Amino acid sequence: MGEADKTLDTLWQDQRRFDPSATFRAQANWTDPGVYERAEADPEGYWAEQARHLTWFEPFQTVLEWDPPFAKWFPGGRINAAYNAVDRHREGWRKNKVALIWEGEPGDSRVFTYDQLGDAVDRAAHMLARLGVRRGDRVTLYLPMIPELPIAMLACAKLGAMHSVVFAGFSANALRDRILDAGSTLLITADGGWRKGQVVPLKRNADEAIVGTTVEKVLVVRRVGDAARADWHPGRDLDWAEEMEKSPRAPYPAEPMDAEDPLFLLYTSGTTGKPKGIVHSTGGYLVGANTTMRSVFDIKEEDVFFCSADIGWVTGHTYVVYGPLSVGATSLMYEGAPDYPDKDRFWQIIETYGVTVFYTAPTLIRSFMKWGEAYPRRHDLSSLRLLGTAGEPINPEAWLWLHEHVGGGRCPILDTWWQTETGSAMISPLPAITPTKPGSATRPLPGIAADVVDEEGNSVPAGRGGYLVIKRPWPSMLRGVWGDPERFRQTYFSKFPGWYLTGDGARRDEDGYLWVLGRMDDVINVAGHRIGTAEVESALVSHPAVAEAAVIGRSDEVKGQAITAFVTVREGVTPDDALAQALRNHVAHVIGPIARPAEVIFAADLPKTRSAKIMRRLLRDIAEGRVLGDTTTLADPAVVEQLRQQYAHRE
Ligand code: PRX
Repeated sequence: MGEADKTLDTLWQDQRRFDPSATFRAQANWTDPGVYERAEADPEGYWAEQARHLTWFEPFQTVLEWDPPFAKWFPGGRINAAYNAVDRHREGWRKNKVALIWEGEPGDSRVFTYDQLGDAVDRAAHMLARLGVRRGDRVTLYLPMIPELPIAMLACAKLGAMHSVVFAGFSANALRDRILDAGSTLLITADGGWRKGQVVPLKRNADEAIVGTTVEKVLVVRRVGDAARADWHPGRDLDWAEEMEKSPRAPYPAEPMDAEDPLFLLYTSGTTGKPKGIVHSTGGYLVGANTTMRSVFDIKEEDVFFCSADIGWVTGHTYVVYGPLSVGATSLMYEGAPDYPDKDRFWQIIETYGVTVFYTAPTLIRSFMKWGEAYPRRHDLSSLRLLGTAGEPINPEAWLWLHEHVGGGRCPILDTWWQTETGSAMISPLPAITPTKPGSATRPLPGIAADVVDEEGNSVPAGRGGYLVIKRPWPSMLRGVWGDPERFRQTYFSKFPGWYLTGDGARRDEDGYLWVLGRMDDVINVAGHRIGTAEVESALVSHPAVAEAAVIGRSDEVKGQAITAFVTVREGVTPDDALAQALRNHVAHVIGPIARPAEVIFAADLPKTRSAKIMRRLLRDIAEGRVLGDTTTLADPAVVEQLRQQYAHRE
């Protein structure tokens, strides 16, 4: 039994259970526990019912065509994501309702009603069309958290082009890889973005990234002015505001897309060095986003929904943009860091705008805990009625802290498990129906056939762990890996043919609740961000001093996991602190600051099997100070003992 298992067993002994309160139930959207059984008895009927909450130009006749691993949801139905997110609300009484509240890091703010947002999206769609963007094209977006980001996404959706949003914390190099893979001819970026009072030089990165790519035009939003100087390339670089001015103030007709037409591409890390472009559909994706807003987040007309994720990740796509807007809610987006100018920034935002539903990441909660409860106590948080987390397992201490110090003991907590690939939340409580247990994402949502199975594919009994799989297709599932159908099949559908392999391990308890343990593959989850060990390793070996590198994720109190790199240097190179620092910076430069290793350990050799496979499991044991696992398959067992001693005495 591993360490993680022991911790869980201790947890289960003093398991606490929170039942939905009568007050919450009395006002909730979904209160009938029978929904789970109904969806199970007729999943297609359930999803068809959910899909009718969207506006279809042409109704679908078929719900699902399943030819594993290829699913088609609502094929033949015609729909447009931007129309559903904006225009349909503009046409009715929500016209003057606030769609988007934006707060900039320096304290500036902008508010868009549905009508104003729709107007901006229309003008942006005219602009993109004028720049030659057509249905099916890919447009890469490398923008900070400013309103132009959702506006550009929705403008792409309106004319049927796919957006590929690249997180603004990624490096020029990472941006280039994603542009090359997507084959975009247009890049939308900003002069820079604000982060902790500093400027992130996005335009400069973009200039470096596009050399040798298909990009012909760069549209630049001015955000930081003179704070980030970059060259201007007349003819290639265009000013967003000037180009928007040229657009007519007239509606841009929403392209009627087939439900199965792709809506966007979003890159995520896997087991190889090359990030995969996850392809999402228009209709099914929107059904997932829209349904979970109503079921999980219990959204009502008067809610102010604040998801603190960056739109550069899937959580921001689904729960800052498409989910809240598709239900006509008010979505709040914040540009900057949670501790700028002070550690109460989120609480200040919640108080100022009367946020009712707050969705954040466990890693942030652990930071808030470290900073202390005085920060939330400075603010009136009584508007909050529901809280959620995603991105990594939440430890019960963080769950309980959130419940008490942010939720005032009255707000249900939603631990939502999902992935870039799943498009929307998959395992989560329904807040008025499902009793919660701190640390468990509880049970699969209605219509989702998640299970935990052993090596042979048998469902594990209570108390046991195994592979987390999803046994039936669901509307917002990925439709493929961009340009690589074989990788799609191989990664997700080859271990258990016909079932989707999540890559996560989980355990089931006596009540059938699921406890997600984390990745079982070579993916690290640092502060809720997915990073492939292979990506970091290839960044390290691209440095002239490095001969070989092995990267692992070791547990970290705040970030969940931190990156430890074991490195052997080339002949004649001195492995000292300065080199360790240089290598950490090198990785940050090649991939982005989120991939910077917490530590670089120099080794004379790396532990390998006789077939020369690096044994990362042993490296993890070393980094977490555990008793070493089985070393009998090692080519040279002395290597690992030497490393262990070296690691133990590293300070
Ligand atoms: O390991 C799981 C972890 O995050 C991974 C997916 O990351 P990403 O594709 O970036 O999507 C994030 C969407 C929330 C999963 O494979 N993960 C996500 N949510 C949870 C989680 N682990 C435990 N509990 C969760 N609630």
